[in-house]
Amino acid sequence: MTTSQINLVKKSWRLLRLLPPELVADTFYSKLFLDHPELRRMFPKQMDEQYKKLVDMLSALVARLDNLEGFQQEIADMAKRHIGYGVQLKHYAMVGDALLWTLEKGLGSDWDKETSEAWFVCYTTIAERMMEV
Ligand code: HEM
Repeated sequence: MTTSQINLVKKSWRLLRLLPPELVADTFYSKLFLDHPELRRMFPKQMDEQYKKLVDMLSALVARLDNLEGFQQEIADMAKRHIGYGVQLKHYAMVGDALLWTLEKGLGSDWDKETSEAWFVCYTTIAERMMEV
């Protein structure tokens, strides 16, 4: 990722955090489960806690951008936990699509081509490292 892409991701993430996290999470999981109902059973019945998980996921992405090498072990451990959740390689693109869609809706007029590209590269970079494990 370029420095300007990292900055775009950080800036848009700060803006997104101004929205109620429950609303962002609801949008993300609704999109994910409507497009791919088969993923629903991987997640707990009660989704109340999931907004925190989504914020954790995004924070995990954003926090690692400046120093991906230093987080190799953590990313590998996270990837192994995901195998335990039943996550398969093909699911990464589904989650990536729902994530970018949610960011687009949440950011409204602050969403543009550069921001979209920056998030795509950000997600793909981490997802690829997780998929290597
Ligand atoms: C770059 C990609 C991803 C990142 C950074 C990420 C991050 C996280 C984080 C931080 C958690 C909290 C628990 C933990 O750390 O183990 C989590 C949980 C979880 N993630 Fe991901 N995730 C990613 C991709 C995916 C994908 C592709 C799926 C497939 C549907 C998925 C499904 C889950 C599930 C099922 C949980 C546990 C939910 C629960 O039991 O409460 N994740 N993820």
